[in-house]
Amino acid sequence: MNCLSPSILSADFARLGEQIKLLDSAGAEYVHIDVMDGAFVPSITYGFPIIQAIRPLTERMFDVHLMIEEPSRYIDEFAEAGADIITVHAEACKHLDSTIDAIKAKGLLAAVALNPATPISSIEYVLPKLDMVLVMTVNPGFGGQKLIPYTIQKVRDLKAMIDRRNLKVDIEVDGGIHLGNVEQVMEAGANIIVAGSAVFRGDVEENVQAFLNILHS
Ligand code: DX5
Ligand code: ZN
Repeated sequence: MNCLSPSILSADFARLGEQIKLLDSAGAEYVHIDVMDGAFVPSITYGFPIIQAIRPLTERMFDVHLMIEEPSRYIDEFAEAGADIITVHAEACKHLDSTIDAIKAKGLLAAVALNPATPISSIEYVLPKLDMVLVMTVNPGFGGQKLIPYTIQKVRDLKAMIDRRNLKVDIEVDGGIHLGNVEQVMEAGANIIVAGSAVFRGDVEENVQAFLNILHS
């Protein structure tokens, strides 16, 4: 199934609650929450208290993208704060296999993110355990960047790798996705679409609807 996962990194933080409710009523299936630690990526964003505070506002899936070093230290806390999907970066985990196990042990969906330059072979052996792979289509750390063109081929290669092995793993794309290129990433094999600035710039409801029209056509 195709799902839209608006990234609240581009939301108006002074009206965060309202904006989450707006995403929900407009029909976005997921809420993409970018957690940054100032070490794995330069920026620092938000953590458990914010996730906890917005959790009662919607029943939509909380798609928590951890851009933090050694996320294994905090899996329990993110689970308790209300995450439904936890995505860790392959580059940030010393022990990726056991980190995935820790997420699954909490009863959550487990995903691994790959920076643009990280090859898909780095998840070859853990792929059957995963619910989703996040292909970063920009370098992580900031919203509003341009999609790096070669990452589309990477999505194609990953899709082929998943299909060849008869697995059911979602492919999420994150960074620089807008109404003009979303069909291209979907054609390549992505089915979970993150969009930050393309959702929050202008009329949020209209933007969500425009994405959903494409995703569900
Ligand atoms: C970037 C984050 C993204 C970001 C996407 O590091 O992982 O989720 O919010 O923003 P846009 O859609 O504006 O590129
Ligand atoms: Zn993200």
